[in-house]
Amino acid sequence: MQCSVSEAADRNKAPILGILASEFAHTSRVLEIGSGTGQHALYFAARLPHLSWQPSDTGEYLPVLREHLRQEGGTNLREVIELDVRAHPWPLAAIHGPVDGVFSANTLHIMSWSSVQDFFRGAGSVLGTPGVLCIYGPFRYGGRYTSDSNAAFDNYLRTRDPESGIRDFEALDELAHQQGLALAADHAMPANNQLLVWKRDAAARS
Ligand SMILES: C[S@@+](CC[C@H](N)C(=O)[O-])C[C@H]1O[C@@H](n2cnc3c(N)ncnc32)[C@H](O)[C@@H]1O
Repeated sequence: MQCSVSEAADRNKAPILGILASEFAHTSRVLEIGSGTGQHALYFAARLPHLSWQPSDTGEYLPVLREHLRQEGGTNLREVIELDVRAHPWPLAAIHGPVDGVFSANTLHIMSWSSVQDFFRGAGSVLGTPGVLCIYGPFRYGGRYTSDSNAAFDNYLRTRDPESGIRDFEALDELAHQQGLALAADHAMPANNQLLVWKRDAAARS
């Protein structure tokens, strides 16, 4: 699915930045999954100069994304890489080795459930210890939507692609747990979205 909707990214980037500034305060290298238009990458990299920000997306997005970021990106914004979460294994060499942060916005409800599983397996494989995983989007809790608008959005998504849809927080938390990631925060965001944060800490490693 091509995401030409840049208005949403424009609206949510400031609230997300407010959270990432603290959640990635001690992080140095962030891999972004499904960078889409690149608006988030540009905005966050410029405002979080201590981070090296690695944008990525699937093949169809790359030409436009590359051109956009090449023209506007600063020195801490890395060259876009191709990364489909379904790849086995994830291309660690292209990512330039393990990262200590992974970020993704509005991707899990676009992917199939099997791709969501691949997402967590891949993120777990490239994330070092300590590591922080931040995922922004709409989620369900206890099988319930957080708003009527999210229920309508889910219906729209599933009508268009039966494999897509708003994901259950509990199922995602289980996938994170399987990767040695523990829920650290669940930030309520504007427009009935959440920013979920999982961490893998050296002290908590089993
Ligand atoms: C709704 S757009 C969100 C784009 C951007 N993150 C934002 O918030 O504006 C969904 C993104 O998920 C990406 N995506 C879908 N399936 C993917 C996959 N299998 N691997 C990696 N990215 C995928 C799409 O290419 C697209 O960039």
